[in-house]
Amino acid sequence: MSVFAEKLIAWQQVHGRHDLPWQQTRDPYAVWVSEIMLQQTQVSAVLGYYGRFMARFPTIASLAAASQDEVMQHWSGLGYYSRARNLHLAAQTIMREHDGIFPQDFTQIQTLKGIGRSTAAAISVFSFQQPHTILDGNVKRVLARLHAVDGWPGLPVIEKRLWSLAESLLPAKNLPAYIQGLMDFGATLCTRSKPRCHDCPMQAECQAFQQQRVAQLPVSKPRKAIPEKQTTMLMIMDGGEILLEKRPDKGIWGGLWSFPECQPDQISVQQAQERYGMQAESLEGLPVLWHTFTHFKLEITPQPLQLVGERPVLPAHLQWLPLADAMAAALPTPVRTLLKTLQQTRY
Ligand code: ADE
Repeated sequence: MSVFAEKLIAWQQVHGRHDLPWQQTRDPYAVWVSEIMLQQTQVSAVLGYYGRFMARFPTIASLAAASQDEVMQHWSGLGYYSRARNLHLAAQTIMREHDGIFPQDFTQIQTLKGIGRSTAAAISVFSFQQPHTILDGNVKRVLARLHAVDGWPGLPVIEKRLWSLAESLLPAKNLPAYIQGLMDFGATLCTRSKPRCHDCPMQAECQAFQQQRVAQLPVSKPRKAIPEKQTTMLMIMDGGEILLEKRPDKGIWGGLWSFPECQPDQISVQQAQERYGMQAESLEGLPVLWHTFTHFKLEITPQPLQLVGERPVLPAHLQWLPLADAMAAALPTPVRTLLKTLQQTRY
């Protein structure tokens, strides 16, 4: 037996959970219902549903015969409702194709709606004591740390590696205790944040611990490349004053004072004319600026303009301000940067 399995079983006997309602049975139907409820859902939440569900639908036949509405009522509040629909459909499949008896064959179990490889393994271990391993999110984390597996566990190549690692660690005896230990260890000790390494019996075996990389493993999901947007900021000047626009409360920089903007494919002097009735001529451009938000990057092209002739009457959200006063206003960072540049530039 692997040292990991040996230590895990010993840990489970002392620190694991032994008296959850679904641990008191080997009935595959009861184990199945519990494993579906426990997908992406904490034990504490499931405890409030499991007993009621099993009291109303004590057998596969009773579940299969119920209306979908009533099944959903008993799931209401637990979330991920496709789980309940699939459970109901699979119960009907078992009535139709397996004479109402939950299949024992590992491959057949996985053909039932809503039962993947890991859930099939849990059912087959707890009900039939068959040697299969689970690999849910918690177990992926435990194994990624144990063997310092680099790469996001959602990647097929990494997931494959974790499955074979999980298979290789399976003990020949005490399987249910081992599998329950895997679940409980990941849920209570080797947690995603603040894992309790000082209480952990696996310190010597855990490569992440040995390499001081526990906090970095498993590798998190790669962030999607964030979209890039472009804007042109119109820096319209007149007699040492600059035109600023108060942005609407909603949206980026809500309520801050910024430059009027146009799209990069629009001609800035034309925009000044059309929007504000302003005669302006463009001055030499300033270098492009990037600003990063959480959800996108903004490429800002500053376009200095010189007002020619009379100032038009403007609505209150547009104000001419001396540069020094403008610097004192509530400004987005890139606008402040551009105003500083402007103070240092001779036009
Ligand atoms: N998570 C998934 N299955 C579980 C089980 N049988 N016990 C505790 N947590 C679980």
